[in-house]
Amino acid sequence: MSDDDKTPEDDAPNGEAPNDETASDETAGGDTPDGESPREGLPGWGSSDKRRRRVSGPMKKGGDARAAKQMFERVKTARGRKTSSTRWLQRQLNDPYVKKAQMEGYRSRAAYKLLQLDERFKLLRPGMRVVDLGSAPGGWVQVALKSGASEVVGIDLLEIEPITGATLLEKDFTDDDAPSLVKAEMGGAADAVVSDLAPWTTGHKTTDHLRIVALAELAAHFAVETLKPGGFFIAKVFQGGSDGALLDLLKAKFEKVRHFKPDASRSESAETFVVAMGFRG
Ligand SMILES: C[S@@+](CC[C@H](N)C(=O)[O-])C[C@H]1O[C@@H](n2cnc3c(N)ncnc32)[C@H](O)[C@@H]1O
Repeated sequence: MSDDDKTPEDDAPNGEAPNDETASDETAGGDTPDGESPREGLPGWGSSDKRRRRVSGPMKKGGDARAAKQMFERVKTARGRKTSSTRWLQRQLNDPYVKKAQMEGYRSRAAYKLLQLDERFKLLRPGMRVVDLGSAPGGWVQVALKSGASEVVGIDLLEIEPITGATLLEKDFTDDDAPSLVKAEMGGAADAVVSDLAPWTTGHKTTDHLRIVALAELAAHFAVETLKPGGFFIAKVFQGGSDGALLDLLKAKFEKVRHFKPDASRSESAETFVVAMGFRG
């Protein structure tokens, strides 16, 4: 299959947000492994819930070998489970990054994508203000905090378990008040806006693709509203998409724009990341 043939559902069983990044089924952010997510059917897969939570508390460890074994047993005994969901679970179980995340206390395997992006571009630095769009279950927030960021604000439609040192908002980042709220929470403009946003998939290839492209564009507009000059923006995008408008915007607003697919991004997935550096303000 060429990258162009790949669809968002390469990343998740149909009907789920392509949020297959959780380090264990305990932290699956509400998804059920059989593809019947409790979030399925949410109107417009967006939430108008404006609840805001400043949170603190112990960082939850992602799990351990026992958790992995339990997952495996669930796969073996998954009678009646859809084949695609069983395949998804088995892939999770055998994924080295899922295991690594469990061992190292990251809430998601996605954490390694941001770590590898940062290894490549050397962007995260101590004292930064970082906004993470689409942050549940919290792997990227953990990475930002570990880099020494002074302020980390994560936003997701889903509730996120508290992470010490981060402000986590249960909110749609496309809400009109989101940029000003985030700036107020951080005490000023951001040094970094990072986005691992992923929409709910419908299984309809074109619809799913359009949703992903739209989310990335909205994230870029959010970045333009919240970044300080010199800041950077990272966003998940999909290869083969019609992302011309996004690239035009980024090239106009940033000094350098690059694409990079970290090793932790599954090779069979069409996802890649766009990195825009040197916000012109
Ligand atoms: C792949 S997950 C993010 C994983 C995260 N980077 C981590 O490391 O744990 C994508 C998230 O985007 C969120 N999302 C999608 N649309 C959103 C929106 N409009 N506003 C806020 N969050 C959104 C989903 O709820 C989902 O939790």
